[in-house]
This record gives sequence, C-alpha cells and structure tokens, in this order.
Amino acid sequence: MAQTRTNSGAGAMTAEQYTKGALDHVWVHSANWQDIAENKGMKVFDRGQGALLWDVNDKEYIDGIAGLWVVNAGHGRGEIGDAMAEQAKRLAYVSAANYTTVPAVALAEAVADLLPGDMDRLFFCSGGSEAVESAVKIAKQVQAMRGFPRRYKIIARRGSYHGMTHGAMSLTSGRKEQYFGPFMAGVYHVPSPNNYRSQFPGLTGVEDELACADAFEQEIEYQDPETVAAIIAEPISTANGVQIPSPAYWKRLREICDKHGVLLIADEVINGWGRSGKYFAMEHMDGVPDMMTMAKGLSSGYAPIGAVGVRPGVFEGFKEKGDVSLGHLLTFGGQAVACAAALKNIQIFKDEDLVQQSADKGEYMLKQLNELRSHPTVGDVRGLGLMLGVEIVKNKETKEKWGREHEFVKRASQHMNESGLLARVWDIIHVAPPFVITTEEMDRIVSIIDDSLTVAEKEFADEIGT
Ligand SMILES: Cc1ncc(COP(=O)(O)O)c(C=O)c1O
Repeated sequence: MAQTRTNSGAGAMTAEQYTKGALDHVWVHSANWQDIAENKGMKVFDRGQGALLWDVNDKEYIDGIAGLWVVNAGHGRGEIGDAMAEQAKRLAYVSAANYTTVPAVALAEAVADLLPGDMDRLFFCSGGSEAVESAVKIAKQVQAMRGFPRRYKIIARRGSYHGMTHGAMSLTSGRKEQYFGPFMAGVYHVPSPNNYRSQFPGLTGVEDELACADAFEQEIEYQDPETVAAIIAEPISTANGVQIPSPAYWKRLREICDKHGVLLIADEVINGWGRSGKYFAMEHMDGVPDMMTMAKGLSSGYAPIGAVGVRPGVFEGFKEKGDVSLGHLLTFGGQAVACAAALKNIQIFKDEDLVQQSADKGEYMLKQLNELRSHPTVGDVRGLGLMLGVEIVKNKETKEKWGREHEFVKRASQHMNESGLLARVWDIIHVAPPFVITTEEMDRIVSIIDDSLTVAEKEFADEIGT
C-alpha cells in the first residue's frame, strides 16, 4: 500500500518511490540482485523503537539480530540523538592528526575504565574492519620498534571473520580469492575450537580446545617465532557459529604468546559491549589480551565508531622513543559527534544495567530456544548472554550440514522474514536482539523460528527422511 512519508531529507515520497529509488541508486551491501529485486524484495526501513523496526510500508519486524549485533541499547534512543546534536552544534570535527577533542578524552577514559586488566589506551576509528586493520598495523610497528623488523606475520583461525577491508579480509577465512587475491602476505589460519564438530578425531570439549590452542604454537614454530607479529581471534567465535571455549583455551593462548613474544589480539567487535552478558567476552576467559578491537555496540549503531584498546606495554615504545608516531591516520578516528554518541550509549548501559539484562534475558532465551531441539533439523542450541545460535542440520546423527545456499535454509529464512523476524540464517540461525527486548518479543522470536522450521521441514521431508 502506497504511503506518504514526510521525514525524508529528500522530501516526501511514497513507499514505492523509496523502493524504486533504492533499487536504482543504492548499492546494498552483501545482497545479490536477484534477492533484492525479485525473491526477497528491497526493504527500506523507516523507524525503530526498542527491539522493533518498521519499513516504509509500515510492516513491523522484530530485530532478532540487533542490526548486525550492533543496536545493543535498542532503537529510538532520543537521548543519544540529543547528545549528538549538542556535540555537533558545539564542535563536530577537528583534525584527527595531532589533536583530540573533549568527548574523545571522556570516551577514552570511560572505555578504559571498563576494559579488562590494565588496558588503558584507545586508538579510535570508524568501525570493526578499521579496528582490525589498526590493530594489525600497531602489532607490526610495535614488533619492529622492539627490535624485530621481520615479525610481520599474523595468524588467525579457520572460519573466522574479521572484516572486509583488504587487510581485515586477508585475516577473514574463506576469502574470495577469485576476485580479490592476492591477499596481505604473511597470514596463516589454524583450527578454531568447536564443541559441536571437533576438528580433531576423538577429542572433545577442552581437549579439542587445547589442541586448537596448540595449533597456534605449532604454526608459530613452523613459521619461525621471529617472523610472527600477532595472533587474532574472537574470544567467542561468532563466525564459527557462537563457539564458546573454556577459559583454559585463552589461558593457553596467553602462555603461547608470552613464550614466543607474539602479541595477542582479541577481536570483540561482536563479542564486546555486553553481548555475552559481560562488558567484554574476555571477562569470561582466563588472561588479558595485548589489544582488543571493538566497534558495533560501542555506540549501539548511533554513530560509526570503533576502537583498539591496548595495554601499557603496547604503547610504551612510543613514549620511550618519543620521536616516532604510529604510521596510521584515519580522518574520522575519534570524530567528536561519534564519541558523544558512544559516551551517551555507555551512560545508558550503566543507568539501565544493560549488560545484566543481556545476561538474564540470554539465559531465558537460551532455555526457550532449547525447546526447538525437538525439531528433526535442530542439531544444537548454544550461546551466552544475548549472543545465541541454533545450528540446523540435515541429519542429527551425522551432523550433515545443509550448506548456506540450500533451498531448505532459504525457505526457513524466507518464512521468518515474512513473519516479521529479521534474523541471520545460514547453517546457524543467529539470535542476538537488542538488550531491551521484552519477554513477549523473545517468545515471538522463538515461535517464529519454530514455525519457520516446521514449514521448511514439511517441504523437505524427503531429504530429512521424516
Ligand atoms: C569479529 C568481527 N571483526 C570485525 C568485523 C568488521 O566490522 P565492520 O563490519 O564494522 O567493518 C566484524 C563484522 O561483523 C566482526 O564480526
């Protein structure tokens, strides 16, 4: 139904005009043309409140994935908008080279206060990929300044995701070599802990995890420790389907890095800012990384901002040498309005105890999602805080995967969408709503997933063997 909307900067347009305008002029990320032009249709969103969103047709959706694990404080936070407007009126921007601003100082202090261990300094940037790029460059320069100019290699994990700019994509596993190779030199990948599908025959649980940790050490030794700058990993691997290792895994990583002079980078771009029921997922683990990347929930999506948190030992070389700066400059690093948005977001986290809400609601939702195990295609349900996942399989015995492109996955995903749930459905259905979600909305998410699986299971009964 055509509706006239009045709040667009481009002037009033009908829903059809917005959809056509999007198809004609917006290059939507990560979407193929067939999907947006035909199968799923182009969705243009207009407004949000809490865990709910409305598109230009006024269709309501539950945001089951908080944008992309971003809108932790929920949609429609007028107070963040007000803080941004005030800052924009007072001072929006000064050069990121050589200067900083009042809100950037306040934000650095507020974040340092919450970071684990002795991490006390922030390098600001505009998002997760930039945070990863920055951490990698910091690692390489710090190693060189410590007297190891040959330490340029970075070891990441198989199945990992660290972003899509060129350097970050080099660390991301399953890279699109056919379009973008060759990638950054000196990147290697080792197995990642997986408590549902162990990488090592016969090993499960912590034994599998420690074998994965030892794979880092084997790779460091094979490459020659004097050539390795850093290793990078998500504390809880979202990319590998919400894999939660025990603290012993990270303790071992810390020991390996210390033994070989390698810097340890924890990528908390998704994990951080309360997603796991603690401010940072590293708080569930044993050990403090040398650097931590963050973005997304830092501002709950109200402004594009990311950061790298570092320990004093990472920065001390720059103080000692005095006349050397980091060979890295991002025009929008620490942009004042973005910092004001993040600061207000953190204030809301504290005022409303949002991290505890994530922990408590996550526990409730995990219990509800566990009921879905009665489906013939639900192989596993797992998660921590409001970072949850339902792994769907063709066969529970063999754990055979559907594969992301299988029509079963597409059918389930389509049904969720039609039922008003925004979710991320691959081999795993990711569930990660804003922390302000209500019990009724959580129940609605579980019920839509339940119905969608039932519909797809009926259509693919032959393949499932039911
Ligand atoms: C673990 C991790 N690192 C880095 C990134 C890249 O962040 P961005 O998309 O903000 O560049 C992502 C994005 O989802 C991520 O999940």
